[in-house]
Amino acid sequence: MKEICQSVKKKDHDPKIEGRSVYVDDYNLTASGKKILCGRLLHSIYAKAKVLSVTVPELPEGYYWVDRNDIPGDNNVNIVLDDTPVFCRDTVEYIGEPIGMVVGPDEKAVEALLKTIEVEYEELEPMLDLRNGDTTFFDYHFGHGDVDKAFAEADKVYEEEFTTGYQDQTYLEPQGMMAEPEKDGRMFVHGSLQCPYYVHGAVARAMGTGPEGVHILQDVTGGGFGGKEDFPSILGCQVAVAAKKTGQPVRCVYNRREDLEFTPKRHPSLSKYKLAVKDGMVTAVEADVRFDAGAYSTLSAVVLQRGIIAAPGIYNIPNVRVTGKAVKTNTTPCGAYRGFGAPQTFFAIEMMMDHIAQDLGIDSIEFKQKHFVKQGDMTSTQGRYHFPVPIPAMLDEVDELCDLRRKHIEYSRPQLGRYRKGIGFSAIFHGAGFTGSGERDMIKATAKLRKYADGTVEVLASNGDIGQGVRTTFPKIVAHELNIPLDKVYYSHPDTARVPDSGPTVASRSLMIVGELLRRAAIKLRDIWEEGKEQEVEEHYRQPDFMIPFYLDRFEGDAYPTYAWAVSAVEVEVDTYTGVVEILGAYGNFDVGTPVDYNIVVGQMEGGFLQGLGYASIEKMSYDNKGRIRNNSFTDYLVPTSMDVPHMVAKMHVEEYPDGPYGAKGAGELPLVAPPPAYLEAVEMALGGMKKHRLNAIPFSTEDVILELNKEVL
Ligand code: MOS
Repeated sequence: MKEICQSVKKKDHDPKIEGRSVYVDDYNLTASGKKILCGRLLHSIYAKAKVLSVTVPELPEGYYWVDRNDIPGDNNVNIVLDDTPVFCRDTVEYIGEPIGMVVGPDEKAVEALLKTIEVEYEELEPMLDLRNGDTTFFDYHFGHGDVDKAFAEADKVYEEEFTTGYQDQTYLEPQGMMAEPEKDGRMFVHGSLQCPYYVHGAVARAMGTGPEGVHILQDVTGGGFGGKEDFPSILGCQVAVAAKKTGQPVRCVYNRREDLEFTPKRHPSLSKYKLAVKDGMVTAVEADVRFDAGAYSTLSAVVLQRGIIAAPGIYNIPNVRVTGKAVKTNTTPCGAYRGFGAPQTFFAIEMMMDHIAQDLGIDSIEFKQKHFVKQGDMTSTQGRYHFPVPIPAMLDEVDELCDLRRKHIEYSRPQLGRYRKGIGFSAIFHGAGFTGSGERDMIKATAKLRKYADGTVEVLASNGDIGQGVRTTFPKIVAHELNIPLDKVYYSHPDTARVPDSGPTVASRSLMIVGELLRRAAIKLRDIWEEGKEQEVEEHYRQPDFMIPFYLDRFEGDAYPTYAWAVSAVEVEVDTYTGVVEILGAYGNFDVGTPVDYNIVVGQMEGGFLQGLGYASIEKMSYDNKGRIRNNSFTDYLVPTSMDVPHMVAKMHVEEYPDGPYGAKGAGELPLVAPPPAYLEAVEMALGGMKKHRLNAIPFSTEDVILELNKEVL
């Protein structure tokens, strides 16, 4: 392993372990010593209604009501499109939509006052059905080849539907933001967030100031997983408006119930797949993918893009036709969660390939392997896999770890008795960085290094540490190139007043894209280094020359410069009396290129793997017939805890990427994507295979196992 892979102690290890880290909820006073007002939101109680009037009683001294009439700028939150309001417009579009905020010094009093505000609604019929929803925010089509001809000439055509549910990020720290008017008239907004410049753009717009009028700081953040990609922009605008009105610092921290019900989560999906098979090979795929966007479009465009690009999986299928729709429903807007649309489609294609193999009577690992893409092959968007595809070798390594191939055949045979076993296999990619030309045309990342007279070096970038370790790995890269000790390089929480825009902390991009800018900047600094002098260097993103330009209107070209790869195997034992599925082993092989800190990367792989298993099994969330999310506590929304960690092996397979720092590729999202289909395939196998129990939906819980088994009796 390269020297850069050697694990170091994380820079934020001690303060976190010792409880000294200050999260946004921890401030007693502002940094400048001022008292902080508490803000609590009044949420809509209807999924769709006209707001006829809001009656606010006379509030005690020092308490305020804040709503859209107080917004100095624009009542549109800058996300991708601008349909999300800061505070509701004339209608509310989902249960939980913020109508206004009560602000004051005492939290209990604020809570009590919220109950005195009378909203007169005219209830309207909400749309709650993804299947029949007819308002589409986005509707994409792409493909290549002659799909109709392939279906006409097929030996057999397979059609199946797959559904996936919500998944909530359940970071330990709920959403929370704070705003403080500064003496110079600027608005200072900080809190738990992933993307300081997203919040910056949004707050500047809502405040009606130029970009100079606001600055944004990321506080210590207790997890994001995508959930703090867009939402802090909304909450940041709300607290900024409140701070502007009151002239005082205002903080709003969601409680867990609000967070689970009203903040973005993974899009539920409904995918219809149709595949043509001729001479034992898949010759065409038609995928019709619908994502439940919720009430506003927020990030749905980009989540859907990533999802549908992955629709054919890692298979070389010559004829492709893909449709993707982000459908509006009157529910909490969905957003980003690790994987960003890809877990939904990979689940569908992996199950589909497995089911076809079962029908053809051949082992699905073998069937899938016959279709694996190789270096040089065309991607779903007529780009190329420019670099080696290590999937066959990674599969062999997993086979060695858990005897996958033998067990896969053995457990597929009929089983009797109470306990029955299954083992599932899946393989996926994850494209690192923004889709298409996003990095080049939209993000245009800039990163800087500033060397002080005493020889310490500060990293200036806008990517927040959300547990993935960039506070450590960025300085590590810089220290390595400068050949100075790691404690001479530091990376503070980014404040847009001090750091350039190196882009958001999303899309598995920070280390691969911004880490590479920092590596190049460090080389520049090394070359001009002068003792005792303050010096600064800057680097800008350059799109690699080999990339085939991407046209979003046609979904044509290289959607990503390169791909991280993952292979998973999940072995289960199903108790057919109780429905309980025990995971006997979960094996992941991950190629994220060079791991720039082995422990940090393996930690991410294990965490993501577990989230993937939770998504497939116990993480059930749904809304009732009024559109209210029912699972609003950790009693009703189960995520895997430390007690649920199975025997889990995370293996690293290194296929270096020449344009990433030291060969690193994106890592963050990859590990969540492969486990769900592997898990469900394993459970289906244990239940006797597709012909007895065709499974095509996740989450698949203990109750679902029992319901399936009951079908045998009935
Ligand atoms: Mo991410 S799921 O691209 O914040």
